[in-house]
Amino acid sequence: MCGIVGYVGPRQSQGILLAGLSRLEYRGYDSAGIAVIDGGGSLGMRKRAGKLGILRDDLKTHPLADGTTGIGHTRWATHGGPTDTNAHPHLADDDRLAVIHNGIIENYADLKAELLAEGFTFQSETDTEVAAVLLGRAYRARGGDLVAAFRDVAARLEGAFTLLAMHRDQPGLVVGARRNSPLVIGLGEGENFLASDVAAFVEHTRDALAIGQDEIVAITPEGVEVTDFDGNPVEVERFEVTWDASAADKGGWSSFMAKEVSEEPEAVANTLRGRIRDGAVTIPELDGLDDLFTGISRIIVIACGTAAYAGMTGKYALEQWARVPVDVELAHEFRYRDPVLTPDTLVVSISQSGETMDTLMAVKYAREQGAKTVSICNTQGATIPRESDAIVYTHAGPEVAVASTKAFVAQITALYLLALHIAGLRGTLSADEIAVQAHELEAVPEKIAHILATEQERIEQLAHWMGDTRSVLFLGRHVGYPIALEGALKLKEISYIHAEGFAAGELKHGPIALIEPGQPVFVIVPSPRGSAVLHPKVVSNIEEIKARGARVIAIAEEGDVAVLPSADEVLRIPLAGPLFEPLLAVVPLHIFAMGLATAKGLDVDQPRNLAKSVTVE
Ligand code: F6R
Repeated sequence: MCGIVGYVGPRQSQGILLAGLSRLEYRGYDSAGIAVIDGGGSLGMRKRAGKLGILRDDLKTHPLADGTTGIGHTRWATHGGPTDTNAHPHLADDDRLAVIHNGIIENYADLKAELLAEGFTFQSETDTEVAAVLLGRAYRARGGDLVAAFRDVAARLEGAFTLLAMHRDQPGLVVGARRNSPLVIGLGEGENFLASDVAAFVEHTRDALAIGQDEIVAITPEGVEVTDFDGNPVEVERFEVTWDASAADKGGWSSFMAKEVSEEPEAVANTLRGRIRDGAVTIPELDGLDDLFTGISRIIVIACGTAAYAGMTGKYALEQWARVPVDVELAHEFRYRDPVLTPDTLVVSISQSGETMDTLMAVKYAREQGAKTVSICNTQGATIPRESDAIVYTHAGPEVAVASTKAFVAQITALYLLALHIAGLRGTLSADEIAVQAHELEAVPEKIAHILATEQERIEQLAHWMGDTRSVLFLGRHVGYPIALEGALKLKEISYIHAEGFAAGELKHGPIALIEPGQPVFVIVPSPRGSAVLHPKVVSNIEEIKARGARVIAIAEEGDVAVLPSADEVLRIPLAGPLFEPLLAVVPLHIFAMGLATAKGLDVDQPRNLAKSVTVE
């Protein structure tokens, strides 16, 4: 939440900041602002409520003098509504110091009271302005040493923050500090960048440094200096961004979401790449870490939202293949319920961004309690992997649309690889059995591509016809159940209509009361070949809702004729083993949600009230 970018170098910074912000807009889009130290040594600042385009237009009509040092911010409001005044940057030290912030300063009210008592005044309702004023006061006390001022301020702040600041009297310097919020450095030739995410600077450099927890960084055109909050120099992890700027561009698609759904086959293929050889699963990142998996008696998967549904899907494979009991829990619930964790508990976290605060806190807590931790993550340089004992990257590429799609299929793929890896180590599957499942996984990308090629248009048409639908239900059983939940989440998230997912077996225990004539219900039908027991039960569920007037849209395997008499529409998916069906059945649901939101004229990439990376609890 909130995107942050900073630049120092020889080039004029405004264009660089605005381009960086446009790549970070997924992090929050209710206001945006920039500050620049111009050639004459003055500090100029402009900020506007609304999407980045409003700021951009404002700067066109009322230009700000440009300069080679600047910071920029795109906001997801926490303290104080989305107004011009509450937008960042915030100024202090008689408008000579500009500060931007991502996170929540939990003790801001006490700090504000202290500063008010000293006679300081505030323009906004934000916690950020409190940090700015505090920094201005420390800057003076420290005789103009911005890094020392940051140290003083960091010691006073509670909560989560990434703060960037620059002072008019020190052009060519941007200083940042981070605790529990993301910040990475981009290393250029005679120029350097700071940002919440590498996407902001990847068009200028792919050479990056990950800043650790509780560290302060100072960038100048000549170099970077990173210290801990006590001023001691620290080692930083250098990495090369593995994708280029075009991967984070829309590239001719109507939306990022449309592009990302089209990339689902690739997301699975890239997550598998180099990890299956001659039917054996090898995850190079886990080399030498067998101890993490061999002695475990239990796995707890923690995640939020869509990532949690990926975890629920992975549970079936982990239990079936690796024969370890698995619980899946929402990270924010897990963290605060005093869970029983022991050294033989493996906690697997899943996060596309690697920055979700709820998940991060749960991982830290699990480690403190002595559990082993593995993270499944899509973002290099992110915090959650660095807080875990091991990491398995999903290689879905940058996901920009707020609603997660390609990362979801990549997360399930990574979990399946992990399940086969653990099964191999524990000897619960033979090499031949692993090869059979690995082969099924390798066939998934082509099958998803087939759905996109054969069903997309029809599903979009269906969504268009259903443009004024007010409620949609989703039913699934076994691995189809988390897919029903994912279908409902995606629909409510981007089309703002009521949607709910249920386990089909639960229907008669309450939800069937919701069925009235015309109620659309998606039903994920398990394969009649692979799930001979469950298939007839789900077909009976269809008949039960049909008898009560539901409009049934079945997602069923090619050739499954049992659904034809009662389903109003049948969306077809290719044949696959039962555990692999979720990777296929979810694709029509992603297309449908996107199609319905588009039919309603909504912005599918930036749904209201949301931000992609939820870096506050
Ligand atoms: C839904 C969605 C969210 C995220 C959740 C976790 O489409 O995108 O539910 O899945 O906020 O985010 P990550 O995976 O970044 O931890």
